[in-house]
Amino acid sequence: MTAKILIVDDDADIVAMLEDRLQSLGYGTVAARDGQQALEQIAQESPHLVLLDLTLPKLSGLDALKHLNRSKQTDGLPIIVMTAHGSIHTAVEAMKEGAYDFLTKPLDKDHLLLVIRKALERVSLRRQVDYLRSEVAGRYASIVGSSPSVKSVVEAAQRAAKSDAGVLLLGESGTGKELFARSIHQWSPRQAMPLIVINCVALTETLLENELFGHERGAFTGADRQQKGKLEMADGGTVFLDEIGDMSLPLQAKLLRVLQDREFQRVGGSKTVSVNIRIIAATNKDLKKAVKAGQFREDLYFRLNVITLTLPPLRERRGDIQALAQFFLGRHAKDAKRPHMALSAEALDALTRYAWPGNIRELDNVIARAVVLSPTDTIEPDMLALLQEDAELPAQDGGHLSYLDLPYHESMAEHSRHIITRAIEQANGNQTKAAEFLKLQRTYLARLVKRHKS
Ligand SMILES: Nc1ncnc2c1ncn2[C@@H]1O[C@H](COP(=O)(O)OP(=O)(O)OP(=O)(O)O)[C@@H](O)[C@H]1O
Ligand SMILES: [Mg+2]
Repeated sequence: MTAKILIVDDDADIVAMLEDRLQSLGYGTVAARDGQQALEQIAQESPHLVLLDLTLPKLSGLDALKHLNRSKQTDGLPIIVMTAHGSIHTAVEAMKEGAYDFLTKPLDKDHLLLVIRKALERVSLRRQVDYLRSEVAGRYASIVGSSPSVKSVVEAAQRAAKSDAGVLLLGESGTGKELFARSIHQWSPRQAMPLIVINCVALTETLLENELFGHERGAFTGADRQQKGKLEMADGGTVFLDEIGDMSLPLQAKLLRVLQDREFQRVGGSKTVSVNIRIIAATNKDLKKAVKAGQFREDLYFRLNVITLTLPPLRERRGDIQALAQFFLGRHAKDAKRPHMALSAEALDALTRYAWPGNIRELDNVIARAVVLSPTDTIEPDMLALLQEDAELPAQDGGHLSYLDLPYHESMAEHSRHIITRAIEQANGNQTKAAEFLKLQRTYLARLVKRHKS
């Protein structure tokens, strides 16, 4: 990305000299002749740095600076003011108004370049610090888990992170798709640049355009200034398209076009903006099936799906449950200022046996609730409030109940055996109660029990 510098001076010779000099060093330049034009160029061109002469027609440099300072635009935009020799007091005033530095005319070219380079470096560092800070605030979590299925996804994700290839993350709700998307960005060479999350469910067509592409001033009523879209904000970084399977077909067509060209126009504008972005998408839907059903564009599917990573449901990696539970316990106990909290052996056992339909997010919530509600420092099973119905599923194989693969009659018999055994267990061996629960005649239940035993 080349830095773009706005040169503001009413002296055409100085502008031409600076343009020459800066362009030969690889910077992009734009120019303005007065303070008013300077403000317009800042809004339209979004320069990375401004060289601002203080004595200007229409709106003076100092007034332009005051305006920018008031609207908090001097924060991420270094403004270097240029003043005639001997007007130091104006320069001091400019510094008070948020200017980054000042130079006196006639300009010393080497000094000028040094100041520009330093200023740009500082902005880029500051952006990195802001980014890291937001990551810490958002609690960038490490990936917990040592089961083979998770390890292999982590390894594949780390390899994928090194390239610019699109990644499609699949998996049930709560399995960690967003966590992996963030991790891939973090492991990638783009990590110092932003990761921008776009939730595709929440978008209507107009919202999407505005949100993705941004708009020009005056594009619609209320658009009183130009606004960058998320794709532009992500320039140099990563875009995470979450819940991509929920996007409507017309939106899919629009998105496809951007992904193909990596360029677009802001709403109400005619200038083409091009961006350098890496795409990661996620969904808990079966996209292949959606393609077959005509609900998802095949061409978009192929574009997103260069590398697919499928996150296993928690019930298929029970070996990770304890480590995850301890991890969440540590986090929530710290938040609740109850550092001595622990899970009893029975509680750990119950967690390990539970089916986890809501996956890791559900586990996180269960622990969070237990930490708050548990009267003692040791969490017992009753504090976990797990849904009894889901406990102790029959043996699992690849996410299916094992008897599903049997022939019809055997499968039905197996299912019958399973629900009956469970009902009797829950009724503490009392067949009458179990029959009531299953809404069966007691004698019929007894016959079934006998049949299953034979
Ligand atoms: N391996 C892991 N280690 C630690 N925490 C995890 C792990 N996987 C997921 N989490 C945590 O579980 C929660 C749910 O994960 P995440 O939001 O990434 O799931 P998701 O697949 O995007 O779910 P959804 O489809 O519902 O959006 C988050 O708080 C996340 O930090
Ligand atoms: Mg998610």
